[in-house]
Amino acid sequence: MLQPDAAPRFAVISGAQVGRALNGQEKQVVEIVEAAYRVHGAGDSVNPPSYFLRFPDRPSSRIIALPAAIGGDVRVDGLKWISSFPDNVAAGIPRASGVLILNDHDTGYPIACLETSIISAARTAASAALAADRLTRKRGRPTRVGFIGTGLIARYLHTYLAGTGWRFDEIGVHDLSAEHAGGFRDYLLRSGADEVTVHERAEDLITSSDLVVFATVAGTPHVTDTRLFAHDPLVLHVSLRDLAPEILLASTNIVDDVDHCLRANTSPHLAEQLTGNRDFVHGTLYDVMTGAVGEPEANRPVIFSPFGLGVLDLAVGKYVYDQVSESGELLVIDEFFHELQRYGHRDQASAIV
Ligand SMILES: NC(=O)c1ccc[n+]([C@@H]2O[C@H](COP(=O)([O-])OP(=O)(O)OC[C@H]3O[C@@H](n4cnc5c(N)ncnc54)[C@H](O)[C@@H]3O)[C@@H](O)[C@H]2O)c1
Repeated sequence: MLQPDAAPRFAVISGAQVGRALNGQEKQVVEIVEAAYRVHGAGDSVNPPSYFLRFPDRPSSRIIALPAAIGGDVRVDGLKWISSFPDNVAAGIPRASGVLILNDHDTGYPIACLETSIISAARTAASAALAADRLTRKRGRPTRVGFIGTGLIARYLHTYLAGTGWRFDEIGVHDLSAEHAGGFRDYLLRSGADEVTVHERAEDLITSSDLVVFATVAGTPHVTDTRLFAHDPLVLHVSLRDLAPEILLASTNIVDDVDHCLRANTSPHLAEQLTGNRDFVHGTLYDVMTGAVGEPEANRPVIFSPFGLGVLDLAVGKYVYDQVSESGELLVIDEFFHELQRYGHRDQASAIV
């Protein structure tokens, strides 16, 4: 007979709870993401390719499924199911929305469903902040940052850089939408920036920044001139499809996972199609962290292209789950799992005639 406390429980964690659990925890989240990269790099994870659900009638939209399992201290399986509907922004709601399901390592039971746009933004920003740190130890920290694309992800990138000790002498922003660029500029000023320059042209922002963040929704490369990178900046290519393959071929390329990143017509994938090989990839961030490949030299641009791994969502999601559990605020859905007695309840019997 199933013991009362052995019955699996299922909880729902709202975006407000996720926000409270992660707010101000930038250093902690970067550490969680670094640990997840180490577990994945050491092979103690399962992270199959993401599945892209696309719609013929809504070509700019997609929903991505990221199943994954992570070992180490996290030991959880799960699925991130995240939509990207870029037209939402004009309608006044965020582009991305999603849920993260966590499954118990031993029983496979789903234990929680978490709002995941915040977890996704946080893990993406944490991974970029980690890369920015790891890729500039030798070349020195950039002091002029430029954000190309100024939505939620750019805001989280800024929060995570600031929250892990980065300070900038100059901040520039560029967006196809003047309204978005202006809104992000106002946000940065409210957050304590002395001055923020809005650039009308991405080209001007690139040449005046030594840390360039791409967080657009561009589907095909819109930056094509290799000369824009002659000052050897560090590029956090979070939106993955902004740069012409020629720019990658003239740079040192770091990815999060080679097999994942060279798919779905990302710029690294285009570079592979152009050259027929993967020689242009210097290594993964894990390789740099472990010293398997050297930190990139200062005399070339460095481009970090993170595809975004489901194991990171699981690691950050499990942290949120534990925080909310410990706070006593876990909203458990009573009787979510109902058919738990193999031969039925005592009072559950069908008449046999
Ligand atoms: N690699 C990862 O792990 C990862 C994770 C999460 C999000 N992302 C990517 O980050 C990107 C940004 O996400 P978001 O939620 O901030 O989106 P968003 O829609 O809120 O903001 C994107 C902004 O980019 C601007 N933009 C579009 N095309 C542009 C161009 N060619 N030049 C300049 N600006 C342009 C838009 O006007 C908009 O303001 C998306 O592409 C998303 O897929 C990547």
